[in-house]
Amino acid sequence: MCGIVGYVGDKQAEAVVIEGLRRLEYRGYDSAGIALVDGGTVATEKRAGKLANLEKAIADRPLPSSTIGIGHTRWATHGAPNDVNAHPHTGGQGRVALVHNGIIENFAELRTELQAAGATMQSETDTEIAAQLLEIDVLAGHDLTDAMLRLVARLEGAFTLVAVDADDPDRVVAARRNSPLVVGIGEGENFLGSDVAAFIEHTREAMELGQDQVVTITRAGVSVVDFDGTPVDCRRYHVDWDLSAAEKDGHDWFMRKEIFEQPRAVADSLLGRRTPEGHLHLDEMRLSDQELRDVDKVIIIACGTSFYAGMVAKYAIEHWTRVPVEVELASEFRYRDPILDYSTLVVAISQSGETADTLQAIRHARTQRSKVLAICNTNGSTIPRESDAVIYTHAGPEIGVASTKGFLTQLVACYLLALYLAQVKGTRYGDEIDEVMHQLEAMPDHIQRVLDDAASIYDMAEAHVDTRSVLFLGRHAGYPVALEGALKLKELAYIHAEGFAAGELKHGPIALVESGLPVLCVVPPAGRDQLRDKMVSGIQEVRARGARTICLVEDGDDHITPYADEIVRLPRVPVLLQPLVAVVPLQLFACQLATLMGHDVDQPRNLAKSVTVE
Ligand code: F6R
Repeated sequence: MCGIVGYVGDKQAEAVVIEGLRRLEYRGYDSAGIALVDGGTVATEKRAGKLANLEKAIADRPLPSSTIGIGHTRWATHGAPNDVNAHPHTGGQGRVALVHNGIIENFAELRTELQAAGATMQSETDTEIAAQLLEIDVLAGHDLTDAMLRLVARLEGAFTLVAVDADDPDRVVAARRNSPLVVGIGEGENFLGSDVAAFIEHTREAMELGQDQVVTITRAGVSVVDFDGTPVDCRRYHVDWDLSAAEKDGHDWFMRKEIFEQPRAVADSLLGRRTPEGHLHLDEMRLSDQELRDVDKVIIIACGTSFYAGMVAKYAIEHWTRVPVEVELASEFRYRDPILDYSTLVVAISQSGETADTLQAIRHARTQRSKVLAICNTNGSTIPRESDAVIYTHAGPEIGVASTKGFLTQLVACYLLALYLAQVKGTRYGDEIDEVMHQLEAMPDHIQRVLDDAASIYDMAEAHVDTRSVLFLGRHAGYPVALEGALKLKELAYIHAEGFAAGELKHGPIALVESGLPVLCVVPPAGRDQLRDKMVSGIQEVRARGARTICLVEDGDDHITPYADEIVRLPRVPVLLQPLVAVVPLQLFACQLATLMGHDVDQPRNLAKSVTVE
């Protein structure tokens, strides 16, 4: 989830590109870089950290004047966020420069091939591989468009690539597969951007690129071909958003934008996790198979929403591996003198990678000789740096204070960890793991279907603007979903909201139920274990006491209809994976209710995105 800009025209490219990057900085801010073509050479500058660091470097060592260039603001996936790994990357001879958003899944094979042919790499990135391959074809006499077509034929994964060639000062070429890219159409100038915010101050005429297309922009025009080289027509449109809406892709809040990005974030977090032979492969799993086979207990530590992801992980890990799992609030962990040793795997889940409670907990675990694995969205942050291994989620930066896509991608990482442990320990066969991976790979489409029905959730929110209290019920993996639904409502709408395991109702909480109280019920899929039927009993109990029941139920389950005042339909998915779809309506509900109540959804009162104090 990086920001990309490309420009060719008659203006100073440096100013256009830097301004575009500033508009896209919300997409990633680990590092930034620029490449300009000037008289047969490509001049590049790149710096770790915010765009201001790049601007300072350019002020100290000015770049040549140029009217064609590309730029990048990075959210690190492969390689630490430092100067060397920042984009653009150049080929071995410095003839082409390239920026990239996405993940090249087969980069390890391509890297080995390049190294065998004598290439040396400057960085740890997958992007440099693409730059080197592109340059080989350009040096062999292919023009940049042709070379790009040859390059994409060799790549697997998700990518937007944008490149310039030192010997071609009138052409910027880009390729798009599964990562965003739009074209800005001007007079005697044309633009590329990860979204329209990159060029909206220069032109409001835009062109949408489809999947698997290569676009060439020159001063005179724009041409698009598919990956086979066949010309295609693309839809043009006029952008009527203002600048702040453009940064949010037309949404009113970053949070809402992030909710709608979830299909992409989940898909990205699944990318590159399987070898060509079909085995699960986790990039930065620095623990050996033997170390994992020795694990006889898992302790998950996290805070807030990440803690709820950990609760789901417990169900998945225990089910697939039969290894016992404890889930503990990071702030409580070290004060209870937990029993840990070298065969305990401690899993720390943190979107930001900087949460002080979680950090202190992993430090404690390491003093007890336990291995620590981090699940984190922020490359190079403190928690993964202090851990023995890491699974990075690929949600891209989460700007809204309330976690949404961070949570869904944490769930994905937890499922991947559970399956990986099962693979290493041999508790599940390859074909069973394969089946779950296929189910996971179908989740982005299921999540999209839930999002397509957002309007009905918004209507539901409208009917609840005067509500002062809401209960959430769930069972099994739906229980953490209920807790997360309640947390979202508390932090955004500032109303009383409580999540309960539905079976606990009659042990106390049912006393809260009174006439008209909304109770949101996450109904498990119908299955062998009667979970759904038990949930139905709970729903009947609260309804009999006057509650208004809003039931999240899988498609085709009509059993619930007589007991539901409102029904929200969920796609049919296995019970363990249901949180990935069930939490989405609850996020939409909280976001919309808070909006209607006039609250600041992106920055709720009293909260901070990264809690760096205990
Ligand atoms: C709630 C939320 C918080 C975080 C918690 C942990 O929407 O975002 O509860 O989940 O502060 O943060 P990380 O995951 O960064 O450690």
